[in-house]
Order: sequence, then C-alpha cells, then structure tokens
Amino acid sequence: MTIVQTERAHRYEELASFVAGLVDKGTLRPGSRAPSLRRISRDRRASLSTALKAYQLLEDRGILEARPRSGYYVTRRPAASLDIPALSQPPGTPTSVAIAATVLNLVQYASDPRLVPLGCAVPSPELLAAGQLDRFLARAARIKGVDYNVYTAPKGDAALRQELCRRALRCGQGWSPEDVVVTCGCTEAVTLELKAVARPGDTIAALAHALDQKSVAACLFSSSFNNPLGCTMPDAKKLEFLRLLTRHSVPLIEDDIYGDIFFGAERPKPFGALDPAANTIYCSSFSKTIAPGYRIGWLMAGRHTQTVLQQKLASTLATPALTQAARRSSFLRRLRQPSAPHPARLC
Ligand SMILES: Cc1ncc(COP(=O)(O)O)c(C=O)c1O
Repeated sequence: MTIVQTERAHRYEELASFVAGLVDKGTLRPGSRAPSLRRISRDRRASLSTALKAYQLLEDRGILEARPRSGYYVTRRPAASLDIPALSQPPGTPTSVAIAATVLNLVQYASDPRLVPLGCAVPSPELLAAGQLDRFLARAARIKGVDYNVYTAPKGDAALRQELCRRALRCGQGWSPEDVVVTCGCTEAVTLELKAVARPGDTIAALAHALDQKSVAACLFSSSFNNPLGCTMPDAKKLEFLRLLTRHSVPLIEDDIYGDIFFGAERPKPFGALDPAANTIYCSSFSKTIAPGYRIGWLMAGRHTQTVLQQKLASTLATPALTQAARRSSFLRRLRQPSAPHPARLC
C-alpha cells in the first residue's frame, strides 16, 4: 500500500501516504471509518481540498471507499501486501536469449475474453476511451477511407509525427518530426532499434561490469515503472548511467512504454530529456494507456534514423494509415491537457 512518489511529494500525496500507513499498521482496520475530511485536515494542518484530494487518491488505490452521506471507510479487503520479489541474479557472462514458448502462450491467453490476463501488462478495456476511438476511426474511414487505403510513408503519418513531437515536449524532449518513425507498437520499435545497432550474437546489457569485460552493442532499458517490478530510476542515476555509456560509446535504447502511467504532477523524464546529446534511441506506444489493439508505437532514433527506416521497410513496410489517423484525431482532443494525470491504470 505504499504510495510511490517519483518527484518531491505533493502535500496531498504526503497526506495519502500518512493515511495509507495507518491502514498498513492496523491503526485503521478494514471496514472502519477513516477520520473525517474536516478532522484529518485539522489534525494534519492541511486544507480541506488537500484532504479531499488525498482521500480520492486513496480511493483510486482501493485503500478507502466513499459511502454516500457517511464518509470514507477503509476497504474491507485491503489489497494484499505482496512481498517484494527477490532481486534476480543474472549470470555473470552473456547468455543467448530467445522468446520462450511461455510468452507465446501468455499473449495467446491475453486475447481470450474468458480469462483475466494476469500474465500480460494490459490495460483493462473499460478504462480505455473506446467509444471516442471508435468514432474517430469510423469518421476517418467514412470521410477519407479512400485516402487512407494506401501505404503511408515508412516514417508514418506526418500529422501524427508532429503531434508526437508536441507531446514529447511535455517531458522535455525536443524532437524533430523528421526523426520520428511510427511503428506497429513498441515491440516493432524495439526490434527495429536493436537491428539498427546490433547484429545477432551481440551482447545487449546494462551493467558496468559487463561494459568493462565485454564488447556491448547496446543497452536496452525501461527506466520508468519497469515491468514487472514497477521501479523508476532517479534522475541522478540516469545521468550517471548515461555518462558510463558515453565513456564506453554504447547506445542506449529506452523503452518508455510505462512512463505515461504516473501519479502526481510530473511524469518521470526519459534519458533523452536529461541529456539530449547522449546516444539514446527512444521508443514507446499507446498500448498501455489508450489503444493496445491499434498497434501504434513510435521511436525517435536520432542518428540511427536511416538504418531504422531500412529495417522498417524490410519488416512491415508501413504502419496502417487508418489507425494512425484515428490516433491523431484523438490526440488533438484528449491528450492536450499538459498536467492531467493519465486516467489509465493497469488491470
Ligand atoms: C516493456 C514493454 N515493452 C513493450 C511492450 C509491448 O508493447 P506494444 O504492445 O506497444 O508492442 C510491453 C508489453 O507488455 C512491455 O512490457
């Protein structure tokens, strides 16, 4: 039940952590009434609106529930506090990696509506803006269906790339639309990037030890809310990591697919925003936030753009035009709210 904070906590987050701590310690028991908003704001010297925001956050986390005309109560079945998984112990020497059959099964099970997809980090469909996306897709098909029944340029829809650049600005990344390539999900983006900087048999790593001992072709990293632990790397560590890679002339591929799923005022900064001169390649997609089925991802490859494009031609040639057009429209309406925390949540 720990409230994870990425930057300096806001007052309401501190208050929420305080109350969550009372639940953790058993001071507030499941089913019991939480202190009233008035009481907690007085006791903790916070404004009423701060207290309300803190309780709403706890409601979102399933720790408190609001009962009409009665106040806030600790949920009867608090989320089980799971043990922190043990740190993995990767072998000291590089080993070959392959897509395990288990992964294929997991992905197959994830599309079975009779099963809860616990093995895949996919958003619950009820949380997605499905109706709005349906309308955009239908309108794009009705009004311009013929125009979209073409190959788009390998880089992707120009207007969508422009919008992706505007969006990247929010977390401090100054991209040019010319360097952005729209891909079929983040999976294609990662694959293209790996093919651009590495050959089969090369070592892909993230350890100072490996960098000293081996020739490493690239590092592949998810620095924000990584899967499965949900850890986020602090900015100072990111900068240290970039300095290490620069010393060894190793490019960094950043898979930032979970970076948009944040609470609080600011999303964590990607590596490229902290040091624009570093040799980083960025990729992400809307799969965890808005539309996994649309298969819209993107990458920003900087100096590797040409090589990535050649790989793109060989892999899918172009990303479907219609879903790009639908995503572009919903961007304009829905995603231009700079400070709004993202509504998506993982199920
Ligand atoms: C770290 C990471 N990258 C990429 C993906 C796949 O993204 P996409 O659906 O955009 O291909 C996943 C899916 O779970 C993931 O966890």
